[in-house]
Amino acid sequence: MNVLILGSGGREHTLAWKLSQSRKIDNLFVAPGNAGTAKMATNVDIGVTDFEGIGQMVVKEKVDVVVVGPEVPLVEGIHDFFLEDATLSHVTIIGPQKLGATLEGSKEFAKEFMKRHNIPTAAYRSFSEDGLEEGYNFLTSLSPPYVLKADGLAAGKGVLILNDIEEAKRELKTMLVDSKFGDASRTVVIEEFLDGIELSCFVLTDGEHYKILPMAKDYKRIGEGDTGLNTGGMGAISPVPFVDKDFYNKIEDRIVKPTIEGLKEDGIPYVGFIFIGLIKVEGNEPKVIEYNVRMGDPETEVVIPRIKNDLVDVLKAVTEKRLDEIELELDQRSAATVIAVSGGYPESYEKGKEINGLDAVKESIVFHAGTKESNGEVVSNGGRVLAFTSYGKDFKEAVETSYSNLDKIHFDGIYYRKDIGFDL
Ligand code: AMP
Ligand code: GLY
Repeated sequence: MNVLILGSGGREHTLAWKLSQSRKIDNLFVAPGNAGTAKMATNVDIGVTDFEGIGQMVVKEKVDVVVVGPEVPLVEGIHDFFLEDATLSHVTIIGPQKLGATLEGSKEFAKEFMKRHNIPTAAYRSFSEDGLEEGYNFLTSLSPPYVLKADGLAAGKGVLILNDIEEAKRELKTMLVDSKFGDASRTVVIEEFLDGIELSCFVLTDGEHYKILPMAKDYKRIGEGDTGLNTGGMGAISPVPFVDKDFYNKIEDRIVKPTIEGLKEDGIPYVGFIFIGLIKVEGNEPKVIEYNVRMGDPETEVVIPRIKNDLVDVLKAVTEKRLDEIELELDQRSAATVIAVSGGYPESYEKGKEINGLDAVKESIVFHAGTKESNGEVVSNGGRVLAFTSYGKDFKEAVETSYSNLDKIHFDGIYYRKDIGFDL
């Protein structure tokens, strides 16, 4: 099987690492990839939204399966592009068509979907510019904190949680009238604040059947104790200790099954990963915070290493719509990943810092995120630079192993959180 992975982060390196272990892989490509993927696959210098370029490469290299890492190409319709081209329509795309990708591309669409299918989520209403006054009234009817969400993609920045009613009203106006998030905030979803602990549930579906992959918990804030600005993710652990059998069953029965059934009922074709952001609220109830139409990053760096199956077998089963025949075999150990970032991230930071000591790392798996090769050296090339994944008998042991291995490497300005799992 020839596989192309789209993307250039830790998630894509992890998928490449896993796929490259399969003897059933003939050729593995990553576009555009990073210094880590270059060691196990062929990096192709094509951007993830250059559909023409990707299509040409897929034909030339006889790619059978394209695994789409990030959401943007899905929301922009890469799957539809392939289906509409006779030379590409036979290729399996792991990732939904534009319609299915709207679950991530529009929060209003996702909320309406959940409402239609009785999937537990925060109560909400959505507003556009001409409904500004109604929006103010709705805010006044709620108690703080107030949750305001830009409807469209806003690179993870489109959610505001505010305590002050006047500030909430001001922000609503800035989003709707002054286009705070551009077109993404032409519609704003205002929702009830949910208090609880978050986790991520990953599902793979062939459109007919589904498998629940290991659940994970990520740490999004830059600072220890979950303080400071939001980032792409500073670490993750899997499994999630508070997900017992009872809670798992609730997630499957109340959320996963109705989601898969709802897609079918609504005639939304969907092949690929569904990442369900969940929150456990009082009374042990799972509620959906959001849908994403891809794997999470850094969650992938702990989820995939816990799957023992040959990933090619799994992808082949998805292609042939017989995912029900796959029995997932999981590593019973815990996995943890800790992200080393560039100093200053998630605000401005410098790139091009030489990374030293990688050869000394023995007990962790190093997944590259923002790295590239420059004159034979690995240098930083983004905010999130490296993910250190380790196994352990529990997440604490796994996290400790990542820390002791992080001690062995260095680049100018390196920073990582030393409290991953602190709240568990
Ligand atoms: P989202 O982009 O929808 O995942 O939202 C980003 C973050 O905002 C989530 O990970 C939560 O921490 C928080 N959040 C979103 N919606 C709510 C809500 N209704 N109640 C509490 N926190 C929320
Ligand atoms: N870790 C959160 C995300 O990938 O969106």
